[in-house]
Amino acid sequence: MSDLAIFGGNPAVVEKPPHNPWPIINEDDRAAVLAQLDESISIYDNGGIFKKFESKFSKLHRRKHALLFNSGTAALHSAYFSLGLKPGEIVIAPSYTFPASVTPIFSLGGIPKLCDIGTDGNICFESLTRINLQGVKALVITHIWGIPCDILKISQFCKEHRIFLIEDCSHAHGSRFDNTLVGSFGDIAVWSLQGQKTISGGEGGILLTNADLLYERALLFGHYNKRCYQEIESTHNFSEFRGTGFGLKMRAHPLAIALADSQLSRLEQFLNCRQFYADKFHRLLEQFDFIETPDLSQKFCNFYRLSFVIKNDSKVKVDLFHEALIAEGACEFDRLGSTMPLSRLALFKRPWEVYPIYQKSSYPGADNDDLRVADQYYINSIRLPIWSDRSWDHLADQYLSALKKVLTAAASGELDS
Ligand SMILES: Cc1ncc(COP(=O)(O)O)c(C=O)c1O
Repeated sequence: MSDLAIFGGNPAVVEKPPHNPWPIINEDDRAAVLAQLDESISIYDNGGIFKKFESKFSKLHRRKHALLFNSGTAALHSAYFSLGLKPGEIVIAPSYTFPASVTPIFSLGGIPKLCDIGTDGNICFESLTRINLQGVKALVITHIWGIPCDILKISQFCKEHRIFLIEDCSHAHGSRFDNTLVGSFGDIAVWSLQGQKTISGGEGGILLTNADLLYERALLFGHYNKRCYQEIESTHNFSEFRGTGFGLKMRAHPLAIALADSQLSRLEQFLNCRQFYADKFHRLLEQFDFIETPDLSQKFCNFYRLSFVIKNDSKVKVDLFHEALIAEGACEFDRLGSTMPLSRLALFKRPWEVYPIYQKSSYPGADNDDLRVADQYYINSIRLPIWSDRSWDHLADQYLSALKKVLTAAASGELDS
């Protein structure tokens, strides 16, 4: 199936279709970064653009503390440290997420225990309730592709069992559950501000929490000197560590945060536009019974990616389906990739090869019979980075036509195994 019609039959155009540009850098962004360049390119305390962005972000999510980092991974690392995670203690994590949601646990000697996901890609609450909680300190969840998890049930579960809850909101800037922004439910929440993210500084991360002690420990873990002297009282247990922090430096770059701050002022605009396009794609996808789209009742998704699944029991071959979309010029439909079942990764299977704190003979292992849905989702799901600007209407229409054509071909058995 190689019909080039939708891009006018010109192979040159098909080879290089218009790309979804992200982040969209406008004049305001350029001005903000240039102004920051003149103001300062290193901020040692909690002032300037750091203060501006942190207070906006914490106010938006109604959290007491905000702390910027140079990456989402660093923010997650600090979040795990802040909980006082000790070697051998367990953190439950979804079996399907971007690895960095979980990988910082290894450098602290913790043990990830993977929990299966549901057919929307998010951690499955029923699977969670079946896990033996002995030795479990925390649960990390990812609102995958921007779809909020069943976060009320999950946070209730964590409270009942006295488990810390970390929300990885790196895909979910602006997503809401029951009209409350994700990142407002857990003990700690973390967002990446990396180049692909809905709010981006190119690189960066931010952590929010209401808990003073978690904030202070996260601060001292990756920041030192001025900011710590500013924020940690001289009477505090950790006051003597203010000069050195706990030994690492994870401070953000002011130019990155100036860009992220400028982008944050357009968040609503991005979300409205994505919602507009996502509705059109959902209306089409929902006409085909071999497709599953996520259940978004009670949920507002930021559509970091528009995701759908070819149902596991369908005869349609997902690789043929995806190839057909690409052949139609709809090249940004994406599958597989580095967000994947973590049990397949060497670091999860054999952490003792790189971290001496683990021993091969006693490591519990990443394999778990109950992770089937994660594998199925990984194989059968397809995603689209949806446009955030209405100047892409023409391309959205071309993608909709391509998708309709491929769905129709699949429904008539042309893409069966
Ligand atoms: C779900 C998730 N968590 C964490 C991260 C890590 O963030 P960063 O790349 O900013 O370190 C990412 C980045 O892609 C992510 O998608």
